[in-house]
Amino acid sequence: MDSMDGLEVTGCTKCEELVESRSQIVNGAGPADADVLFVGEGPGANEDEQGAPFVGRSGSVLDAALADAGLERADVRITNCVRCRPPENRDPTKEELNNCRPYLEREVELVAPEVLVTLGKVPGEHLLGRSVAVTSETGDVERVELGGEPRDVLLCLHPAATLYDASQKEAFRETIEKAATMAGVEGGQSRLGEY
Ligand code: URA
Repeated sequence: MDSMDGLEVTGCTKCEELVESRSQIVNGAGPADADVLFVGEGPGANEDEQGAPFVGRSGSVLDAALADAGLERADVRITNCVRCRPPENRDPTKEELNNCRPYLEREVELVAPEVLVTLGKVPGEHLLGRSVAVTSETGDVERVELGGEPRDVLLCLHPAATLYDASQKEAFRETIEKAATMAGVEGGQSRLGEY
C-alpha cells in the first residue's frame, strides 16, 4: 500500500529494491510550517537506522552551518528526494526518484516554505530538471513549479562535500547564510570551523 498521512509516508512498496534495502521509511523532520525546506538525496545508514534525515556526520556539518546562520535544526524542515535507503548508498535511480516525487510534491505543498535548499547534485538536478554543476552553482536561485506553485530553489553543495574538501566550507556556509537571509533570519556566530 502506498499511503501518506499528512507529511508522513506511512507505507510504500513502489521501489522493489528499496523496500528490500530499507529498515524503515525516513520521512522529513521539522516544523510543518518551516520557512526553509532542505532537500537531500536519500537516507544513508544512520538515517535508515534512526528514521530521521541527516543524523550522521553530514547532519553535524549542516547543524554547524545553520548555527553560523542564526538557525537551529528545530527552525527548519529537512527531507529527502527518496525516503528509503538505496543499497550500498548508491544514488537513487530516475525511476526511484520519480516514484517518490509525489510525496515530495505533497510535502512542499503542505509546508509551503519561503525557500527550498537542495543539498547536493542529485536533489538539485531532480528539482530543476536539468544538469547542475553544484560546485559552481551553489548559491544560485531558480524559480521552479513545485507543490503546485512557483518556488525559489537555492542550489547548495552537499554538506559531505565540505568533509572531503575543506575549501568548500566557505561556499557551503555562505549558501546556508543566504537561505537564512531569504527566510528573513539574521546571522549568528561561526561554528563550522569546528568540522
Ligand atoms: N545525505 C542525504 O542526502 N540525506 C540524508 O538524509 C543524509 C545524508
